[in-house]
Amino acid sequence: MEFKKQKSYKVAPLPFQGQKRRFVNGFGIALQELKANKEVSIIVDLFGGSGLLSHTAKNIFTNTRVVYNDFDNYSERLRNIDRTNKLLADIRLILSDYPREKKLDDKSKAHVLECIEKADKTGYVDYVTLSSSILFSAQYVTSLSQLNKETLYNNVKATDYDFSADEYLGGLEIVRCDYKQLYEQYKDVPGVLFLVDPPYLSTDTKTYLSDKYWKLRDYLDVLNVLTGSNYVFFTSNKSSLIELCEWFADNRSIGNPFENSVLNTQNITINKSASYTDMMLYKFVK
Ligand SMILES: C[S@@+](CC[C@H](N)C(=O)[O-])C[C@H]1O[C@@H](n2cnc3c(N)ncnc32)[C@H](O)[C@@H]1O
Repeated sequence: MEFKKQKSYKVAPLPFQGQKRRFVNGFGIALQELKANKEVSIIVDLFGGSGLLSHTAKNIFTNTRVVYNDFDNYSERLRNIDRTNKLLADIRLILSDYPREKKLDDKSKAHVLECIEKADKTGYVDYVTLSSSILFSAQYVTSLSQLNKETLYNNVKATDYDFSADEYLGGLEIVRCDYKQLYEQYKDVPGVLFLVDPPYLSTDTKTYLSDKYWKLRDYLDVLNVLTGSNYVFFTSNKSSLIELCEWFADNRSIGNPFENSVLNTQNITINKSASYTDMMLYKFVK
């Protein structure tokens, strides 16, 4: 059945850390250009996150398969929006006389937590969405026990979230797996386009399903999916990845200068929460 273009979302319907809303327009322009010039057989969003890129791609490539890797089960959050709206309405009522944006006192906090605990016991709670209504800006938790430890604020969204999950996810093929597995599945399909938006290097990934810290090696591994296929890749200047790749392209013969060297380390403590490891490497050639 042919997919009919739906409402075009410029922002993910529910909060999602790292969503590419600032790129929606530029991404759309790049895809329009691609559509005009090349045959694209399938689009695979390897790190789907909120699905915003998949959604945007599907609205442009209406007759092309778009695979959304919903690694964090974001679609479950979307499909539970009625429960989330109900819980937020209950909290709004509890805090109706409480000043907005103010820290909750102990009594109000206990009342709000009791309400959330009840919802948690009887069904689904979307803690990430809830966080944006009762935590300090850009702070997120993913469970009741974490929420208990936080200072709560009255930032409750004034109105219901208003969207249709079916409309937003319309026409997408939703899968959930490691990006490498998905890449293996589609890498040899002629005309495939990969959307590649991995977690940024060493950023806070606690709201993602896997809270594994993305180390340099994980990040560099992703480069393997960029060779030989159409891609749209996202990174930031914090990782210096582009500079690193340019340097290696200019110095192809360097190999690994640290191979067979001896490593000596010293732990340096800056303060209670910050430390790093200083390293000395040596190798004496004959
Ligand atoms: C920067 S976000 C993607 C944001 C997305 N493009 C958007 O606009 O919402 C990176 C995503 O990669 C997911 N992820 C982490 N490890 C992964 C893995 N091994 N395979 C696939 N996805 C992974 C994270 O959970 C997160 O959803």
